[in-house]
Amino acid sequence: MKFAAKMEKLKVETAFEMMAKAKKLEAEGKKIIHLEIGEPDFDTPKNIKEAAKKALDAGQTHYGPSAGLPEHRKAIAEYYSKEIGVQYGPENVVVTPGAKPIMSFAITALLEEGDECLVPDPGFPIYQSMVKFNGGVPVPLPLREANDFRLDVNELKSKISKKTKLIIINSPHNPTGGILTRDDLKAVADIAVNHDIPVLSDEIYDRMIYEGKFESIAQFPGMKERTIILNGYSKTYAMTGWRVGYGLMPTELVGHMAQLMTNINSCTATFSQIACIEALKGPQDEVTAMMTEFKKRRDFIVDRINKIPKLSCRKPAGAFYIFVNVKQTGMDSRKFTDFLLNDCGICALAGANFGAEGEGYVRFSYANTIENLSEAADRIEKALTK
Ligand SMILES: Cc1ncc(COP(=O)(O)O)c(C=O)c1O
Repeated sequence: MKFAAKMEKLKVETAFEMMAKAKKLEAEGKKIIHLEIGEPDFDTPKNIKEAAKKALDAGQTHYGPSAGLPEHRKAIAEYYSKEIGVQYGPENVVVTPGAKPIMSFAITALLEEGDECLVPDPGFPIYQSMVKFNGGVPVPLPLREANDFRLDVNELKSKISKKTKLIIINSPHNPTGGILTRDDLKAVADIAVNHDIPVLSDEIYDRMIYEGKFESIAQFPGMKERTIILNGYSKTYAMTGWRVGYGLMPTELVGHMAQLMTNINSCTATFSQIACIEALKGPQDEVTAMMTEFKKRRDFIVDRINKIPKLSCRKPAGAFYIFVNVKQTGMDSRKFTDFLLNDCGICALAGANFGAEGEGYVRFSYANTIENLSEAADRIEKALTK
């Protein structure tokens, strides 16, 4: 077969690659501690699973509308309106299989060949991948440790050109756990309004904040009509395998996204969507308990890492990742993750996989038990001080 040139532009998500490498070592009998995975290690709350079972028994196993079940779209609009204080209706909502399609659909709908899209660097690798796949040009916006992995507004301004057709932001942020302050969001909003550029705001970690309160860029004047919010159930409700996400956006974009859904997926699984309504409207105590545990783990692992010679990391305000500075080890980030896997039996992700600015860092996910995090820190300390 001869493949289209654009297939070369797709990048993989290294978490899946690293997981495969680790599985190979495990098959040889090695005990690997998994710190590469971007998913909560908790079970989906019981009430959500019960709602799905009930929906299956009630025969909710058929096609549904492309943009999502009307009652689900309504529940999302109500939930988000309350969360960020911006009024949305069901006509602003599109439901997709996982949140990722919102990313690729927004990029497909907004970028022409050669158009530029500002992406966080380091950042979720799929942003750059999908921009390139769609013929666009990703323009990396550095997020530096010295600035708590927040963007520099003046740098952002300097990167805007006539070809800029989309700005992507992500707060709380993967891979650093950093969050943008209200002032940062306001400054980005001012730029977006002044230059009339839409913003894709990836808010998948919105409920995973340890200090302060979540704020969305859509809250600022002139932004509801320019923002595509991406969110979903994967992280907050430990539902990565259910594949349900959603976007909130201006109604004129909803039609295009629904058409993309019709062409690519037909619809999102009906019984999963019914379970998601329960996720939004049902008890939230398991989410609260999960976040209390994540905070404990964050404090534990940040403290341990900072006691290991040659390693350091900031205490992130959100998500469930730490971005560890490994520059003093003399290894680059990929060498360091090989060292972690082969010498310590730890699977983690090289910062360079998240963009050029990620070089010199390694991402650990602390979606793992304190016992395993402690064992991981012991192993690294021992191997580095050998
Ligand atoms: C920043 C970010 N956005 C989006 C996603 C995708 O979420 P989903 O699994 O719902 O497609 C992830 C998942 O890792 C993520 O880290």
